[in-house]
Amino acid sequence: AIERTFSILKPDATRRNLTGAINALIEKAGLRIVAQKRVQITRAQAETFYAVHKERPFFGELVETMIGGPVVVQVLEGEDAIRKYRDVLGATDPSKAAPGTIRKEFALSVGENSAHGSDAPETAAIEIAQWFSGNEIVG
Ligand code: CMP
Repeated sequence: AIERTFSILKPDATRRNLTGAINALIEKAGLRIVAQKRVQITRAQAETFYAVHKERPFFGELVETMIGGPVVVQVLEGEDAIRKYRDVLGATDPSKAAPGTIRKEFALSVGENSAHGSDAPETAAIEIAQWFSGNEIVG
């Protein structure tokens, strides 16, 4: 089915001018960027976005990393978009990511892993709604 998923190009990617190279991999996979904006997220926004991880030992570092510079938030649309984008991203830990994936090509570490993608339809809907109003998404 045609789905939408939510993506963040993280501060390590914006800092190294990699947003275009990552977008090229996204588009090559057949995903369409139907919304996109560059934002400096606040600590409160980062804590809300990653609330599911708040008991994890890496939560504090995750929040600091995500507010350490601008990010690019996106909505991606396409057939089976949630799974497809996770395949394009590769494993969370770049040392375990397959060749040709975003994280294998670009990520620095598990914390600075260049991009985020929603893990399920329910989380995709919540994440998209946190960052975009309906009229900002143009399919
Ligand atoms: P992301 O897909 O954005 O979702 C949660 C993030 O936590 C993950 O990518 C990683 O960047 C980050 N993270 C930092 N440390 C760890 C860790 N030890 N295990 C899993 N995720 C981690």
